[in-house]
Amino acid sequence: MAELIDGRAVAAEVVEKVTAQAAGLVAAGTTPGLAVVLVGEDPASQVYVASKSKKAKECGFHSVQHTLPAETSQDELLALIASLNADPAIHGILVQLPLPGHLDERTTIAAIDPAKDVDGLHDVSIGRLTSGQLGRTFVPCTPKGCMVLIGRVHPEGIAGLNALVVGRSNLVGRPVAALLQHANATVTVAHSRTRDLPGLCRHADILVAAIGRPEFIKGDWVKPGATVIDVGINRIPAPEKGEGKTRLVGDVAFEEARAVAGAITPVPGGVGPMTIAMLMANTLTSACRAAGREPPVF
Ligand code: GUN
Repeated sequence: MAELIDGRAVAAEVVEKVTAQAAGLVAAGTTPGLAVVLVGEDPASQVYVASKSKKAKECGFHSVQHTLPAETSQDELLALIASLNADPAIHGILVQLPLPGHLDERTTIAAIDPAKDVDGLHDVSIGRLTSGQLGRTFVPCTPKGCMVLIGRVHPEGIAGLNALVVGRSNLVGRPVAALLQHANATVTVAHSRTRDLPGLCRHADILVAAIGRPEFIKGDWVKPGATVIDVGINRIPAPEKGEGKTRLVGDVAFEEARAVAGAITPVPGGVGPMTIAMLMANTLTSACRAAGREPPVF
């Protein structure tokens, strides 16, 4: 039976470290500042943004939230970003995605000063990540959280291990593959056109599932002893809990995989809590850089 990787506990440790470091920065005259921008009324985004702003306050940061109406124009959004870029009290800017359909995501993210791109989604950040300049960029929060969890299972490192990333999104699949490669794993990226996905999975010492399809990866695809990181958060009907009830599941058939894997993240309580913790870590890193201090390693 696999070891359960407790993302809530690891995230709490990260946040504790951020809070302690932030107190030191504040005492030295720099309060880390995070601005979170939400456009429109997507209910899931409202929940995410509120928890990011709240966690920033808990860390002792200067935390501001800008909630703009769904009909905000591209120029209005760019003007807000320009004012946040120019504000010395703000070290991190996060524009919650997805944006309403009339707004262009790439244009919007490109307007953020890369020095404040704590989401790691700017083209400059992506370029620095894929060229291995990790000390000069911000690593996207969910991929960074995945790596911290993998590091807990493999404190000796993952050099030479076979890593399979299922999914090639800009938010998770692509950056996590770059990070695994940077850590000297042998990395394969699988996607919807991949042939014989079960066969590929069976070779993976580290399996990262980020496809957004509920319980898609089956237990008998998992290599015995593998480390399984499930990034999926899928809501499915749960009639056993009562009419109209739902529950969250990952991209991996958890109970089956747990019987085979060496270590596995649950959903919820695995990768999810790490995303916000790593956003706090990135904001602290940005404030350290602005203050001319060496940022801590997370
Ligand atoms: N929407 C879902 N995940 C994310 C994320 O990590 N960053 C942003 N900006 N939007 C998201």
